[in-house]
Amino acid sequence: MKPLRIALTKGRLERDTVGLFEEMGLDCSALREKGRKLILPVGNGEIEAVLAKAADVITYVEHGVCDLGVVGKDTILENGTGFYEILDLGFGKCRFALAGPKNRDFFGGYSAKTIATKYPNVTRNYVEEKGMDVRIIKIEGSVELAPLLGLSDAIVDIVETGSTLKENGLEVIDDVAPISARLIANVASLKLRKQEIEDLADRMEAAKSSLQRKKEESR
Ligand code: PRP
Repeated sequence: MKPLRIALTKGRLERDTVGLFEEMGLDCSALREKGRKLILPVGNGEIEAVLAKAADVITYVEHGVCDLGVVGKDTILENGTGFYEILDLGFGKCRFALAGPKNRDFFGGYSAKTIATKYPNVTRNYVEEKGMDVRIIKIEGSVELAPLLGLSDAIVDIVETGSTLKENGLEVIDDVAPISARLIANVASLKLRKQEIEDLADRMEAAKSSLQRKKEESR
């Protein structure tokens, strides 16, 4: 049987997925000692893990060269539509927020505002929902700089602990959307290998609950 191929977002989501796989009893030694290798076996060869950047996880799954993917809801909201989202994995939790300089009334006044962001689609959807007239400027990283330098009135960005905002004199103005890691599936794979994918998703969900229980017990 051909292994199910799953694209993992390199870094933290990859490490959390390894934790989940190990909770399922799958051997992840190849992934743990991967060196610079990008395609690695998991378990007894029933799964093949592919390590990719977040947006590329979506591309590989959409094109069907990977059956499944683990990717953040942030990347899905910004880039994705052509696949199924089948499970909230419960890790990688953070949120999209609108943030700006402290004690500034972003929603007040009549002039059009400017928002800097790495996520122009998420931002566009948010301001359209609010019915606001906003100019969006795309920034590649450290978006917090934009209001500090006077390029924008606010930012839409990922907030996890809130310390980046705090250390730069910014604060959350509004919550935009919650984020966590999701299991996504290629549309054709979900038809052709339905049983295998559903079994794997069920086992991942059970492992997620078991890890959450262990975490609560250790508190
Ligand atoms: C992300 C995000 C914020 C920060 C939020 O940046 O863009 O800057 O983390 O985390 P916090 O609320 O816990 O401080 P990342 O480190 O990915 O770098 P980037 O800004 O270059 O994208």
